[in-house]
Amino acid sequence: MSAEEMKKAVARSALEWVTEGTIIGVGTGTTANHFIDALAHSQLQIDGAVASSEATAERLKAHGIELWDLNAAGTLSVYIDGTDEVNARLQLIKGGGGALTREKIVAAASTRFVCIADAGKKVDVLGKYPLPIEVLPMARSYVAREIVKLGGDPELRDRCTTDNGNVILDVHNMQISDPVALETQFNQIAGVVCCGLFAHRPADVMLLGQADGSVLTEKRP
Ligand code: 5RP
Repeated sequence: MSAEEMKKAVARSALEWVTEGTIIGVGTGTTANHFIDALAHSQLQIDGAVASSEATAERLKAHGIELWDLNAAGTLSVYIDGTDEVNARLQLIKGGGGALTREKIVAAASTRFVCIADAGKKVDVLGKYPLPIEVLPMARSYVAREIVKLGGDPELRDRCTTDNGNVILDVHNMQISDPVALETQFNQIAGVVCCGLFAHRPADVMLLGQADGSVLTEKRP
C-alpha cells in the first residue's frame, strides 16, 4: 500500500472520533484533505468546522461544510490533523504545509487532538524532518542567528508567505531529545510567532495507517 493509500485509510478511520452535533477543528495537508473528503461523504451531522488554514477553509466550503470563526465556536470537541513526525509520546513536528500557527491554536482550543498519518511519520527521536519556525519578516535574520546558537541550521523557506503574512525558517540537523524544553526555548526568541514542535500540547490519540491497510491506534501515555 502506498503512503497516499495509507493516508486515505487513516483519514477514514478518524471519522470514528467525530462527535455529531458539535463543531470540530480541521487541520491542513494531504491527510487532512482526505479526512475532509471522507467527512463530506459520510452521514455524520456536525454543526460545522474551524479551519486551520485558508486552504482547508476553501476545501470545507467546497463540500458545503459550515465554517466557524474560532472566537465564535468556543471549545472544540476534537481537532483532526496530520503531522510530519511523531514520537512515542505523541509529540509532533508540524508545519510542513506552513500552517503551524493556526494549527497550534486550533489544537489548543480542542478537548481532544486526534492526529492522523501514514506509518512512515513515526520516529524514535524528532528532528530528521526540518523543524518549521514561523517568524515575523523583520526578525528573520535575528531569529536565524539565535537558532544557530541553539545548534540548528536555519533555511528560509523559498517563496513562502504564511496565511498570517510571515515567513518560515526550516531548521535542519536538530536531534530533539527534549522537545518540551526546545519548544520553550524557541518560543522565547523575539520575533518567533510559532514553533512547529507540538510538545507542550501533543496529540491525545495517534492513528497510524499501516502498509497492510490496517490502522494502529496509540493513546498518549
Ligand atoms: C501542515 C502540517 C501537516 O499536517 C503536515 O505537513 C503533514 O502533511 P501531509 O498530511 O500532507 O503529509 O503540519 O502545516
